[in-house]
Amino acid sequence: MGKQRVLSGVQPTGNYHLGNYLGAIRNWVEGQSEYENYLFVADLHAITVPQVPYDSTRLASDTYTLVALYLACGLDLDYSTIFVQSHVSAHSELTWLLNCITPLNWLEDMIQFKEKAVKQGENVNVGLLDYPVLMAADILLYQADKVPVGEDQKQHLELTRDIAARFNHQFGKPDQQVLKLPDPLIRKEGARVMSLADGTRKMSKSDPSDLSRINLLDPPDQIQYKIKRCKTDPIRGLTFDDPERPECNNLLTLYMLLAGKAKKEVAAQCQDMGWGQFKPLLTDTIIESLKPIQEKYQAITEDKGYLESVLRDGRQKAQAIANQTLAQVKAALGYSVPL
Ligand code: TRP
Repeated sequence: MGKQRVLSGVQPTGNYHLGNYLGAIRNWVEGQSEYENYLFVADLHAITVPQVPYDSTRLASDTYTLVALYLACGLDLDYSTIFVQSHVSAHSELTWLLNCITPLNWLEDMIQFKEKAVKQGENVNVGLLDYPVLMAADILLYQADKVPVGEDQKQHLELTRDIAARFNHQFGKPDQQVLKLPDPLIRKEGARVMSLADGTRKMSKSDPSDLSRINLLDPPDQIQYKIKRCKTDPIRGLTFDDPERPECNNLLTLYMLLAGKAKKEVAAQCQDMGWGQFKPLLTDTIIESLKPIQEKYQAITEDKGYLESVLRDGRQKAQAIANQTLAQVKAALGYSVPL
């Protein structure tokens, strides 16, 4: 049997931070040799929220940065195909076809849509509502077996399964499904990295305060400054899982994940520490673990031709699979084949 296929993506919105790394990219890297991986930059999703202020160079440069970070974090082209969503036009095309079989109320019920719509007030475009159908197209085009998703994207994966099942039911033959239903890939140590300013909120690239996150490309002095300033509590002795101490849990978890230690070990090591002792330890651990990524990133970005060749290959491999699925979907829907 061949390897199972994994598919996932991240939006190119700049400020790539420890949450993106520990919650997504690092997991892809760790599991990559077991699977056949298709990992992409979700640049079509990136315009579902208004780009303000508009800067015509930003989308492309954030895309290149993300691809360089994928590689710098250790994605290996022997196992992983890296590509850009907008380079494979089948994503947009399948979205349209799936739009026409997706009930409107399924989309109106999506939690993330409701949350983002409230945040955006008057300025809600159709793309924001349609976001999950585009995501379904991303996944279904590659007949993915597994999709590593965090808590916030689980509902979208459920919807993807519902859309695929509905399509197969309406247009497939009983013995032959056109679209494969993907399963979530859930990892034991689901890392939810929280904001440095508030341990109850997720670390986020859209938080207006840069002090709330550690960006993967932050230089050492900035990391030191951010950890020095981050929110803590006045209690001595550090513990995991105390609901009264979300910041403490978050910072210990960061240390545990980056130092590669077991939870028990960290709990024992830090139980009598105060913040004055723990913060320098955490600072050094973050700086040391980001150093190789930052060095590799520098080397990769110095060679734009290399990045372009990675994306050219990725696009070709992705297109080969995506176009095949698209053709099957169109055939199932009864479209004429262009001569
Ligand atoms: N919506 C995802 C996010 O913001 C990104 C994404 C787009 C994605 N398409 C996908 C993730 C398909 C997994 C599979 O995190």
